[in-house]
Amino acid sequence: MGKVEQLWRHGLSRRQALAGLVSFLASSPLLNAQRDPWPLGPHRRFLGFDEMRDVFDFEPLFRANVPLSVYDYTAHGTESEFTLYRNRDAFDWVRLIGSGGVNPSDVDTSTELFGHRMASPIMLAPTARQRDLHPDGELGMHRAATTTSTTMIVSNVSSFPFPRIADAADGPLWFQRYATRELEPNRVALDAAQEAGAQTIVVTIDQQASYYERDLHVRHLGGAPRQVSRRTRPDPPNPYRVGAGRLWYEWQLFDDLRPLCEVPMLAKGILTGAGAKKCLDHGVDGIIVSNHGGRALDYGPSSLEVLEEVVEAVGGQVPVLIDSGFRRGSDALKALALGADAVCFGRASRWGLGAFGEPGAQKVIDILNAELKQAMATAGCASVAEIDRSIVTTSFP
Ligand code: FNR
Ligand code: LAC
Repeated sequence: MGKVEQLWRHGLSRRQALAGLVSFLASSPLLNAQRDPWPLGPHRRFLGFDEMRDVFDFEPLFRANVPLSVYDYTAHGTESEFTLYRNRDAFDWVRLIGSGGVNPSDVDTSTELFGHRMASPIMLAPTARQRDLHPDGELGMHRAATTTSTTMIVSNVSSFPFPRIADAADGPLWFQRYATRELEPNRVALDAAQEAGAQTIVVTIDQQASYYERDLHVRHLGGAPRQVSRRTRPDPPNPYRVGAGRLWYEWQLFDDLRPLCEVPMLAKGILTGAGAKKCLDHGVDGIIVSNHGGRALDYGPSSLEVLEEVVEAVGGQVPVLIDSGFRRGSDALKALALGADAVCFGRASRWGLGAFGEPGAQKVIDILNAELKQAMATAGCASVAEIDRSIVTTSFP
């Protein structure tokens, strides 16, 4: 064996050097830059139902339960996913200032929206195709929402028809609509939902043309990619990526839909004060500040950082709700302090349903409500009415 080979065998081997580098990197703050917990990090096994402590605990279990394509569909954001991550970053730019002095068990989270009393300002955002996550799908989600006195917004793209979801339990339901260009299909859908008891109609106006790149590329080795959604099919061919199921919205849409709604009509997907004012001009009864959980236009702002602008523009004329990136009760408290009337949770509720079915969804809501109470107590707010701007400071970039 020559000198070089001897050195190779007995000196610091490449393998050792690499191992050293990997362990250095693993403990480096560079790789641990994410601020949200990584629940499986310190565990060698999956956590059980009774071990769920926060909403993040549900995600790895959901991921383990479903095919990668279903996981991806829930997880993804548009294009480079900048807005997806900004939605979480935004919570770092709002600090909660606690004056304390309130016992969590004395906190009253109840509130009122559109004349309906709600146990909490925490709601379920409309999200599509929940039977992919668990066989009970939206039926289980509605039962979980009912058990926890939570208002659920049912997606237009549900696995079950709205009346069937409404029959599964008796808790409050809202109905979300992706409007079609022809008025008649809108009328049929809105009539059916209102007849089945929808308390409000939510018209989603963002996400006409987002591209889910995770869907477009075959990254699911060993199997065909998930059936490409209608939006991404090249049919009808057009240069703007708008599939057959969506349309370019113009403000006129609300004038057309308003007469079809006997209940309040909300616009979902507003991110500017000017947009909110347009909504008011066109008969909208409520605004949902949202970037669709980072699934609409990428490189847009987080919804939290534009909330105050929208609240100011609306000037108390109609309720302002918010979603996108919310994972904790204290996240909700920040938005309530910045002027939101209620907060909707999308992926959080899907992780719960996908991890354990109906009990999982219920537990997610219970955890969020308990966290909200705890945060309200620590901030010194015994009721929703006592939450105001004074309990937060902000440093949005
Ligand atoms: C959605 N969202 C949505 N919105 C809507 O109006 N109709 C829909 O059918 C759907 N479907 C849907 C599916 C999935 C998998 C996701 C993640 C989201 C958007 C949803 O209502 C809400 O705006 C976001 O989920 C909020 O962001 P978080 O809570 O998921 O971060
Ligand atoms: C989505 C649609 C269905 O976000 O809104 O996937």
